[in-house]
Amino acid sequence: MKRSDFPFLGFGVGLRRPHYTHILENRPAMDWFEVISENFMVAGGRPLEVLAAVRDRYPIVMHGVSLSIGSADPLNKRYLNELRALALRFEPAWISDHLCWTGVGGHNLHDLLPLPYTEETVRHVSRRIRRVQDFLGRPILIENVSSYMTFKDSRLTEWEFLRAIADEADCGILLDINNIFVSAFNHRFSAEEYVDAIPVERVVQFHLAGHSDHGTHLLDTHDHPVCDAVWSLYERAVRRFGRVSTLIEWDDNIPDFKELSETAQHARRIFDAVVQPANINDGFQSQAHPGTAVPANHRA
Ligand SMILES: [Fe+2]
Repeated sequence: MKRSDFPFLGFGVGLRRPHYTHILENRPAMDWFEVISENFMVAGGRPLEVLAAVRDRYPIVMHGVSLSIGSADPLNKRYLNELRALALRFEPAWISDHLCWTGVGGHNLHDLLPLPYTEETVRHVSRRIRRVQDFLGRPILIENVSSYMTFKDSRLTEWEFLRAIADEADCGILLDINNIFVSAFNHRFSAEEYVDAIPVERVVQFHLAGHSDHGTHLLDTHDHPVCDAVWSLYERAVRRFGRVSTLIEWDDNIPDFKELSETAQHARRIFDAVVQPANINDGFQSQAHPGTAVPANHRA
């Protein structure tokens, strides 16, 4: 996996149902959209029509929630077939999922559950990622999840675990800045140390989102604006990783498209203040995925 194999897409938002009509009718300025893969694993109908229309005008990436790469169950061949077919049809710039497990024994628990941070888990998960990548014919990105418990068997820090798996699987990293912040608070580790320990050459995308504060713990609810502390951590990440495609996630209490778009613009302003385009030589392609259109002022 080479970071230079991935385009820099700029600043995007998640494609969510309440905004379908606005996007189709108004074609708002937006660098790119991230879609939840499973929402479009259907035989036909409006979701696929919407996605086709969006894809005609914008770059997209596919973000999954059901790969269950950490599970002890066999990989789900049917799911992988559908994922590959969707990717062949809509040509996302990349495919991502989470570093977690979502079920076992054939039961889907519909949650992104953490793993024990051990060498054995590193070998197990990285082997599975390699199989998925071979099947899809492309490298994937794995995302750090937020968590609320740890395993007494863990021997590695979360960042050592993420790094070891990405290296052993030779995959990319989708670094969720809010998830780092949430888990750092919940488990009392340093979010800054985490960011500083992740290898630059593996990070292809950032996620930003809002969480809810319950005093003793934070919950990754994606239903609030991005908080100031997460914006600060994002700024630190931009300083370290440079030009990384950035995506705003908002899944509950979804605001109107204008507010969502303004949040993406805020990320762009932070990026612009940190990164001097003329001085960038960070290994990314300088233009969008072939066949996609990125506004000229975002091709720096
Ligand atoms: Fe995320």
